[in-house]
Amino acid sequence: MRTLAVLNQKGGVGKTTTAVNLGAGLARQGRKVLLLDLDPQAHLTYSLGVMAHELPRTMGAVLMQECRLGDVVRRVAGMDVVPASVALAGTEVDLAGVDNRENRLRMALADVDGYDFVVADCPPNLGLLTLNAMTACDELLVPVQPEFLALQSLGKLMETVAAIQGGWNPDLRVTGILLTRYQRQKKLNRETRQRIQKHFGDTLLTTVIRDNISLAEAPSFGQDIFTYKPGSNGAADYRSLALELLRRGAP
Ligand SMILES: Nc1ncnc2c1ncn2[C@@H]1O[C@H](COP(=O)(O)OP(=O)(O)OP(=O)(O)O)[C@@H](O)[C@H]1O
Ligand SMILES: [Mg+2]
Repeated sequence: MRTLAVLNQKGGVGKTTTAVNLGAGLARQGRKVLLLDLDPQAHLTYSLGVMAHELPRTMGAVLMQECRLGDVVRRVAGMDVVPASVALAGTEVDLAGVDNRENRLRMALADVDGYDFVVADCPPNLGLLTLNAMTACDELLVPVQPEFLALQSLGKLMETVAAIQGGWNPDLRVTGILLTRYQRQKKLNRETRQRIQKHFGDTLLTTVIRDNISLAEAPSFGQDIFTYKPGSNGAADYRSLALELLRRGAP
């Protein structure tokens, strides 16, 4: 079972879009996928049309050990999904006061069996929920928008990864940096791509996610990109990402 956290402390870089559509892309390659929503914004949950506020228990209850992970799983778009709700913001506060607070997700996943991939969508910060993802997962996928401050936030993230490797999770690896919302016609995008390539070499994935309006529209229909617009650039790019990650294997 490969466990991937989609992570970047910078907001709005395409984490949720990537978690949903990578998961759906892997499912379409015949892989069994478990998606985890670890963000109190619950964007992954809503993007897949799950009405989290109508559910009795979600990710927060799992982390507080009020129920097991299997109890809250929903079947959506060919994947199993653990939804989140805004209540997860309160859970993060409550977690601060409990034992094994950084280890709760790992403990919950110990229960889980039969998946090829677990993909976790993280919030845009390096708080306790993100820490749980980095402790529970062996691989990080880091979406980045090709703009001026991208390298700076990547540097900060790599420092954090090194700290986690030295303590909570020695097995943690950065599987790939993924450029999102890429516009080839923009010089800044091409230059930033080159700078990241120079700095991070092979860690920069070959697949690039182009800026594509269908990717922004799909969540309002509660659909992944393959269901919403199978012929779009977005579907082609996320299919290519799924294939690249399968080809590369775990680092
Ligand atoms: N390749 C793309 N082309 C066009 N729009 C995109 C693309 N990827 C993401 N978007 C849009 O950009 C916005 C931010 O994307 P997304 O929500 O995936 O980022 P995020 O990193 O999860 O944000 P947050 O940090 O708030 O969780 C969304 O409106 C999304 O629909
Ligand atoms: Mg998000």
